[in-house]
Amino acid sequence: MTLLTDPTTTTTHRGRRLRRTPALRAMVRETRLAPSMLVAPLFVRAGRGIREEIASMPGQHRLSVDELAGEATRLLDAGVRSVLLFGLPASKDADGSGAWAADGIVQQAIRELRRAAGDDLVVIVDVCLCEYTSHGHCGVLRGESIDNDATLPLLARTATSLAEAGADVVAPSAMMDGQVAAVREALPDEPILAYAAKHASAFYGPFREAADSAPAFGDRRTYQMDPANGREALVEVLADVDEGADMIMVKPALPALDIVAAARDITNVPIAAYQVSGEYAAICAAAERGWLDRRAAALESLTAIARAGAGIVVTYFALEAAGWLRDEAGG
Ligand code: PBG
Repeated sequence: MTLLTDPTTTTTHRGRRLRRTPALRAMVRETRLAPSMLVAPLFVRAGRGIREEIASMPGQHRLSVDELAGEATRLLDAGVRSVLLFGLPASKDADGSGAWAADGIVQQAIRELRRAAGDDLVVIVDVCLCEYTSHGHCGVLRGESIDNDATLPLLARTATSLAEAGADVVAPSAMMDGQVAAVREALPDEPILAYAAKHASAFYGPFREAADSAPAFGDRRTYQMDPANGREALVEVLADVDEGADMIMVKPALPALDIVAAARDITNVPIAAYQVSGEYAAICAAAERGWLDRRAAALESLTAIARAGAGIVVTYFALEAAGWLRDEAGG
C-alpha cells in the first residue's frame, strides 16, 4: 500500500540519506534489543560442581544445582533477568513422576535460584513430561499413542509442584489439548506462558541431546503442530489465551516468523518466541567454520525475531548477546 506521506516516487526517494553515519542509523532504527527481553534457557542435572558442555550446543552446559547461583550472577550482571529451566532427572519412569517430585531436579533448582537471586531473576519453568518419561514422549502412553486427557492432571500436578517450589512463571509445553486450562484451574494466580504454537520441528535436535529427551519410538507429530500450518497456529494461540494464558510463545522462532507477526496482530498479550537449539547450533557451526560471523548472525536473527513482534526472546545467546548489546551501547 502506498501512503500519501511515503516518499515513494523515484525522484524524491533517496533511502541512503538516513544511512550515512552510525549515529543517523541508530536514530532511525526501528527495532532495539534490550537484555531484559532475553530469556536464558538452563539445563539442570544432579551432582556437584558440574558444568558439562553440550556437544551440539557450544557454550551451553548442563549445570548441577550448586552452579546456578554463579550462573544467575553472570546473567544479572549482564542485564538478563529471566531464565527458563529444564531438568535432567537422575531416573525416569513411564509416567514421568520426576516432573512433580517435591525434591525433583527443577524444584531444587528453583529453590536455589530463589535463595541466590531473590526476586531479581524471573524463574520460568518448562512444564512437560518428556525429560522425565522413560519413553521420551511428552505425555503418558496408552499402547503406542499418547493419552491426552490422562496427561492433563499430570501436567497440572507438575506445574503446581514447580509453583510451590517458587517458580515465577510456568510454561506448559507438552502440546496436549486443554493443558493451559488444566494448569490454570490448578493455579489461578500463577502467570502462564503457553507454548501455544509449537511446531514438530527438526530444529529441536540438539535440545533432545542436551535434555536426553528424544522419543524412544515414533515422533511428536501427533501432538506438536505440522510446520506447514500457520492459520492453525493462530487457532492454538487464541485457544491458549482463552484457556487463561497470560503470555504465549511461538516456537521455533526464525522458521515461524510469520506466525510471530500474525500472532502479534490478533492478540494483545505478551508474545515470546523461542530461538531453539537447532537455530543456535546452526549459527555456531557455521561460525566455527568461518562461514558466518557469530555475533552479527546472532544479533541479526534476534533483531528479526523482535521485529516480527516478539517482546520476549528465549535464546541460548542470551548472556553473550547481552554483552554485545552493552558493547554497542557503549561504543
Ligand atoms: C519440551 C521442550 C522441547 C523444547 C523445549 N521444550 C523439546 C521438544 O519439544 O521436543 C525444545 C527447545 C529447543 O530445541 O531449544 N517438550
